[in-house]
Amino acid sequence: MIQLAIEVALEAGEFLKKSVGKIQHIEQKYGQERNLVTEIDRESEQIIIRRIKKRYPDHDFLAEESGSHEKKSDYRWVIDPLDGTLNFMHGMPIFCVSIGLEVKGEPVLGVVYDPNLNELFTAEQGKGAFLNKKPIRVSSTSTLIESMLVTGFPYTIRENPDNAVQHFVNFLMEAQAVRRLGSAALDICYVAAGRFDGFWEVSLSPWDVTAGFVIVREAGGTYTDFHGHPSTISTKRVLVSNGLIHEAMVEVLRRGLP
Ligand code: IPD
Ligand code: CA
Ligand code: CA
Repeated sequence: MIQLAIEVALEAGEFLKKSVGKIQHIEQKYGQERNLVTEIDRESEQIIIRRIKKRYPDHDFLAEESGSHEKKSDYRWVIDPLDGTLNFMHGMPIFCVSIGLEVKGEPVLGVVYDPNLNELFTAEQGKGAFLNKKPIRVSSTSTLIESMLVTGFPYTIRENPDNAVQHFVNFLMEAQAVRRLGSAALDICYVAAGRFDGFWEVSLSPWDVTAGFVIVREAGGTYTDFHGHPSTISTKRVLVSNGLIHEAMVEVLRRGLP
């Protein structure tokens, strides 16, 4: 299954890369001005689902653009065909394909492919995490003042009552630096690879996190909700770290909770 997920992620990623600058249709989602989708997001999703369905016709799918395809299988693929749509639309080379697999509701496999840097993050439960086939580990940074953190903001930032901006300000005051890349799946993989020490975001969806959760867990990292309690792929407020700074991040988030 991991081999198939890798092949499909590479194919979809190459499709995204060659589609930069060729978008023909942009639509709003849920009537939100900043939440946009292009025909490239949809085509990428079709490439992924078509190939996986061909091999595993009875599996379930949860995919960002086409929703849920349920056959009540133990296996469910959770797919973001283009994470970083706004970057992609602006020709910013920070976007990826994210393919995760759950078995009986447990995330067990993750593949995230960045076609711009040609970086492939992979992990299977119990087998470690890899970047282009080389093992990766989270960082050993143990204080916030030495930590490089990353976050993202919801498209509904104006209406969202979740204090996203306040958390950002609080972490700016405590961390060495805070970045904002625009692709949650890459943010989480970069924690797995030790490039970032921690990541939080107030309003994520299963397709943003499923693959990343397996990858960061297998790289020795931790993911929870903002209180430090175990999270699932449906948890909206997500905190991911190298484990060592997790409690300190929970403390900063507690100060900013609405
Ligand atoms: C978005 C990106 C972004 C995050 C948003 C996501 P999309 O996904 O991951 O970094 O801040 O919350 O919705 O729409 O580009 O797939
Ligand atoms: Ca996404
Ligand atoms: Ca997407």
